[in-house]
Amino acid sequence: MEIPFSEMARRARQTEIIKILAKSSKIPDFISFAIGIPAPETVPVETLKKIANEILEKEGLRALQYSDTKGNIQAILVDFLEKDNIRAKEEEIVITTGAIQGTFLATLALCDPDDIIVSEFPVYPINLQTFRMNVREIIPVSMDSEGMIVDELVEKVNSLSKKPKFIYTIPDFQNPSGITMSLERRKKLVEFAQEKGIFILEDTPYRYMRYEGERLPSLKELGGDIVIHINGFSKTISTGLRVGYVVAPRELAEKMVSIKQGADFSTPLLNQLMVSYFLEKGLWEEQMERIRSIHTSRLHAVLKALKEHFPENVTWTEPRGGTFIWVTLPPKTDIKELLDRALENRVGFVPSSDFYLPEIEKDYPPAMRLNFPYYGEEKIDEGIKRLAKALRETLG
Ligand SMILES: Cc1ncc(COP(=O)(O)O)c(C=O)c1O
Repeated sequence: MEIPFSEMARRARQTEIIKILAKSSKIPDFISFAIGIPAPETVPVETLKKIANEILEKEGLRALQYSDTKGNIQAILVDFLEKDNIRAKEEEIVITTGAIQGTFLATLALCDPDDIIVSEFPVYPINLQTFRMNVREIIPVSMDSEGMIVDELVEKVNSLSKKPKFIYTIPDFQNPSGITMSLERRKKLVEFAQEKGIFILEDTPYRYMRYEGERLPSLKELGGDIVIHINGFSKTISTGLRVGYVVAPRELAEKMVSIKQGADFSTPLLNQLMVSYFLEKGLWEEQMERIRSIHTSRLHAVLKALKEHFPENVTWTEPRGGTFIWVTLPPKTDIKELLDRALENRVGFVPSSDFYLPEIEKDYPPAMRLNFPYYGEEKIDEGIKRLAKALRETLG
């Protein structure tokens, strides 16, 4: 029977990363730079085990039942955000099932099928999927070493006959590029959004993963109500807890809560409490220090290996935080072939095609995203050597 898929479902496509993960799980001694996750050693398993026990002792049944759709840990998040100069009221915070759900709910709350949004490119494919399914057009804006090119954004938005509903950006250690938006760009972007009355969707899962350099203010700090601020504890505590949050103007936050009822009704209370106990016990600083120390040495190891093993006509970003490096390849590189060769050589990466709209992919050079923190230094060197071999085989 032919399934009568909706137009929305027809726009959903399977990304290469899903296929890579499926294929590579069957290959022994595989080194994957593909999936975006922190060093496994940074996930505080023992601490979380104790905390989960403590919660179940204290809260019992309550922790295992349905909970408030808006979430239950706003009070602790108000204090947490204040340390980052974000002054949020409890009613402006929605707890979400991962940061992904924040973008999903904001998109559904703001966009009609005939709407336009703006996004920087290359960009995180899962949210790109949400945009593709729910709006008519995504206006692409390129990035350089200072982040989204705001002059290009201004020019494009000013030439549109319809105002976009929001501008999507990942200003800190961007996925996939690792680039951080400069202070000057942040100010310019916020000023433009305020002048035009266009929301900015600021997605910040890597914000607190800075290993070097000075802290920069979030767009939320600079822009107040024009900015919808999204984050979560996936990369800093555990991806599997699925605890995220959104800070948005009160009315929008309320609308997102109404929509969330039909998405999953509530984010598991046990998981929310695990995060709030973790923060209340003052374990955050120590956790961030652990991430910083392990990830910094791995970042340097990947950069060193790239320099040693990759040819001169290949360039890469040198991020100061987060988990990704973006490697730009010679224009003639067939990225699909490179991926096949890489898999044959037992190494994985995510190809640039996953991070663009199919219709704009050809306007950008082929590239690969490498997640750098997962392995120790020896494996990193071996993995980069294998990638360099696959690249030589592809370029001939
Ligand atoms: C930009 C961006 N947003 C959201 C997410 C997902 O976050 P979460 O696991 O909190 O849903 C990721 C994870 O890779 C990401 O890179």
